[in-house]
Amino acid sequence: MKVTVVGAGNVGATCAQAIAEKGIVKEVVLVDIKDGLAEGKSLDLWQTAPVNYYDTRIVGSTNDYSKTADSEVVVITSGVPRKPGMSRDDLISINAGIVKSVTENVIAHSPNAKIIIVSNPLDVMTYCAYLTAKKSKNEVFGMAGILDTARYRAFLAEELDVNPKDIQALLMGGHGDTMVPLPRYTTVSGIPVTELIDADKLDAIIDRTKKGGGELVNLMGTSAWYAPGSAAAQMVEAIVLDQKRIFPCCAYLEGEYGLKDIYIGVPVKLGKNGIEQIIEVKLNDEEKALLEGSAKSVKDVMNVLDDMRLFD
Ligand code: NAI
Ligand code: 2OP
Repeated sequence: MKVTVVGAGNVGATCAQAIAEKGIVKEVVLVDIKDGLAEGKSLDLWQTAPVNYYDTRIVGSTNDYSKTADSEVVVITSGVPRKPGMSRDDLISINAGIVKSVTENVIAHSPNAKIIIVSNPLDVMTYCAYLTAKKSKNEVFGMAGILDTARYRAFLAEELDVNPKDIQALLMGGHGDTMVPLPRYTTVSGIPVTELIDADKLDAIIDRTKKGGGELVNLMGTSAWYAPGSAAAQMVEAIVLDQKRIFPCCAYLEGEYGLKDIYIGVPVKLGKNGIEQIIEVKLNDEEKALLEGSAKSVKDVMNVLDDMRLFD
């Protein structure tokens, strides 16, 4: 089985490494537009195989999509990352064109691939790939919720001094500052988190989670890659092993949660067919209002994509 990762930058290379180290596919193809970058990173990664004990082949390609033919899953990370002072939404004018052209190349060689978008602004870039690919909505989706939930879970584990493995949480909405972490659906080994932490500390963690991407951009001068790359690899694993995992992913809604014609983060079941189910949990009035606010922000960015007239 073959998986392709487009974009051999920080997130793409980390994702390729995480997939290879899981030993779940025969081949990972890494593609980039920059001459030699994907070949170089693939060679370097392949040379970790004898040390790290895996046998997944890693193949690099400078924009030659014939090498990606018949991929089961394609992860698209190509595009520019955030710099300090930029929001994810500021990236749309450059990244929409990149995501569109990359998706066209991907579909031409792997018409049956499940496509995972990582490029920002995430929800709208996933929509852009969906419009380009003209595939079932279940086969085109985006990675953000696993990352945002991982940040929330990591902050909680630190505050509570517990093992991060024991923290289960749900977070919905767009991949931006309006995302909606849900304390009512957050537990520590089944114990509601609200019983273990003061409300003001929980509020501070929720706020830090919403701004988690920006915190890293300010520290590093570019956006994060270890957790994003690992999160995308976890989605690949769920698909290729048909694990039926329940994750928050960016999915196309057609009335679920009262939202239509929008890609946004919701809990889904991920298996060999891609998104196999969108799970509708009960939200209270406050949670519904937060999700609707987040959907409004995503729609505002969708309007910017519409104004670019890429699909006329
Ligand atoms: P990066 O700059 O390290 O890597 C991007 C790579 O894309 C570069 O190597 C570049 O040459 C390549 N590229 C550009 N145009 C291309 C094309 N037409 N075809 C093939 N490759 C092309 O950036 P990084 O840090 O890897 O971030 C990538 C994207 O992922 C950004 O848009 C960033 O905002 C987004 N991101 C999304 C996250 C999420 O949760 N969804 C988390 C972290 C980053
Ligand atoms: C992140 O959340 C910027 O989307 C990127 O790290």
